[in-house]
Amino acid sequence: MFIIKQSKDLAGYLQKQRSAKKTIGFVPTMGALHEGHLSLIKKAGEECSIVVCSIFVNPTQFNDPKDFELYPQTLENDIYLLEKEACDVLFLPSVEEIYPSGITQTQVYELGYLESVLEGKYRPGHFQGVCKVVHRLVEIVRPNQLYIGQKDYQQCLVIKKLLTLIHSPAKIVICPTLRESNGLAMSSRNMRLSADEKQKAGGIFEALSYINKHVKAGPVKEIIEKAGNLLIQQELAADYVVIAREQDLQVIDVWDGQTKVIALIAAFMGNVRLIDNMILPLNFANYGN
Ligand code: PAJ
Repeated sequence: MFIIKQSKDLAGYLQKQRSAKKTIGFVPTMGALHEGHLSLIKKAGEECSIVVCSIFVNPTQFNDPKDFELYPQTLENDIYLLEKEACDVLFLPSVEEIYPSGITQTQVYELGYLESVLEGKYRPGHFQGVCKVVHRLVEIVRPNQLYIGQKDYQQCLVIKKLLTLIHSPAKIVICPTLRESNGLAMSSRNMRLSADEKQKAGGIFEALSYINKHVKAGPVKEIIEKAGNLLIQQELAADYVVIAREQDLQVIDVWDGQTKVIALIAAFMGNVRLIDNMILPLNFANYGN
């Protein structure tokens, strides 16, 4: 695996690959890699000739400075895992490489409603930061396919919108969420949880599963309340528990039984904020227990 730090070196290398008719799959990450990230690398490897992974802890997307400071960094292990997964290139840029004119540049992306709800509401500025970094990375890598995780469902919609705004021809591939044995969605932030907290954080999956099992046409208030109680029982402090339209994340109070919907939760376990979601109804064949 090549480890490249300068964007011009990466762009040059990839230009050669494109000339040789190679297709490029790109997996942007913030490192502290886990099986979830690796499943994206694997999928990219199955579908593209060259797989590029980037590791960059993007300062502009952290609305909470403490979260940025405490974001886990495990570069040595990340390199080991990427080598094992047969990743071709690791792009490891500095802040200056990504933001040559500084991190306070003022370009604004018109994300509309997506920016005012759920993660947009609870993490002001977060999606502008995600757009800034993904815009820059996509300009450097110019991938044929961009691999992202359903775990960050709202981010998927934001990146989709971004690619339209910047007229990128890259195709988005949304990959399923990988989970721990208790259902907890894998996340780099899980490294900040104790074993006991990890166990309790499984309550998020339990709450989503409860919604999945009980949702039916009509008002959703009661089912949302019951799911909220499951979180409280596990000492999870929710920012939100909602059902929303899958297409645009418009939150619904009454389900018509037809519209495609998704349940989404954000909750704190101690000072670690976790998010997860489930497209309804989900067939549980994968999660036997
Ligand atoms: P990060 O949290 O490192 O995630 C990188 C990619 O891995 C994202 O597309 C995310 O949705 C996916 N992912 C995370 N957990 C997963 C899981 N359990 N199963 C499957 N995929 C999972 O998301 C970001 O970084 C950043 O916002 C980024 C897009 C890199 C921009 O800075």
